Amino acid sequence: MYLITGCAGFIGFHMTKLLLKKKINVVGIDSLNSYYAKGLKLERLKILKKYKYFSFFKLDIANKKKLNKILINLNNFKVIHIAAQPGVIYSFKNPDSYYKNNVLATDNLLKSIINKNISQFIFVSSSSVYGNQKKFPIKENSKLKSINYYANTKIKCENLVLKYLSKKNISTKIVRPFTVYGPYGRPDMLIIKFLNYFRNNKAINIYNFGNHMRDFTYVKDVVKIIYQLSNKKNSKIKIFNICASKPVKINKILDYFEKLLDKKINFKRKPKRKGEMEITYGSNTNLKKFVKINNFTNIYFGLKKTIEWYNEFPKKNLFNLHK
Ligand SMILES: NC(=O)c1ccc[n+]([C@@H]2O[C@H](COP(=O)([O-])OP(=O)(O)OC[C@H]3O[C@@H](n4cnc5c(N)ncnc54)[C@H](O)[C@@H]3O)[C@@H](O)[C@H]2O)c1
Repeated sequence: MYLITGCAGFIGFHMTKLLLKKKINVVGIDSLNSYYAKGLKLERLKILKKYKYFSFFKLDIANKKKLNKILINLNNFKVIHIAAQPGVIYSFKNPDSYYKNNVLATDNLLKSIINKNISQFIFVSSSSVYGNQKKFPIKENSKLKSINYYANTKIKCENLVLKYLSKKNISTKIVRPFTVYGPYGRPDMLIIKFLNYFRNNKAINIYNFGNHMRDFTYVKDVVKIIYQLSNKKNSKIKIFNICASKPVKINKILDYFEKLLDKKINFKRKPKRKGEMEITYGSNTNLKKFVKINNFTNIYFGLKKTIEWYNEFPKKNLFNLHK
């Protein structure tokens, strides 16, 4: 049995669905917050609820009492902690949400599970913890530097995991995914945001004149890898990048979009914004040594799949951003 936090979010949804398809029981928790349209989270939940192996609790894990009420009935399970307040730019606007949903929530969860019978704990951190590095590809042992408050809270969460679980007999892993994209993606992230702008014929701002490079990693690859990791034992806490290790310039992504959509894109090139990493390019060597990975989904194919999903998704108004 797995406990998945953030099961109605983008990555949590794909993670939960993969487990349910394998007929594994999942207890899913999500506060269904309104960082982006709650309706999109409900659409994802609707799919998960079709599986009899799934139980859902609408719950804020920063609420100790309510969390303990659910955990009291669970025994012998694996935990994948995905719930968080994500987003770089929003962390300058509403830092409190990051403190509560990342630091406080993770602290609460760890305190609540520490004495339970659990065999695995996986914390989903982020590549943002690396900030702007000089050496590429970025290895897991690079010095962490937060250049925004989101990254700062993710580093704090990693430290909490180390503090609470280092001496416990629980296989613990911290994973740092790099720019995840795919169907049911987050509306505030580049790919879905772009698709939404194209649909509304709005001009898109391309920051850093399109020169940012991102190590785009397809969501189905990410959750498959986390599943594999959850089946492997380790005595010391291990940290893994999850990335295709093939960075692509945003200008190149725009070319791909024009080709796949067969239309000219209306965009405005703008200077860099504060707090954004210029290049994300991770090393996946350690990961590949630990689990068997055949291939990462090629970005062009992944984009094509995402566009196909987007075109068929009926409730496109759910991608409109209000933040
Ligand atoms: N999407 C990416 O590219 C990416 C890359 C690196 C790391 N990550 C990390 O992966 C995780 C998931 O990201 P995502 O893109 O799926 O984001 P998401 O916002 O779609 O999912 C997070 C979910 O957690 C829930 N949540 C937030 N605070 C909660 C709380 N206190 N209690 C219960 N539920 C709560 C939200 O309602 C949401 O459904 C985050 O930890 C994020 O930092 C994401």
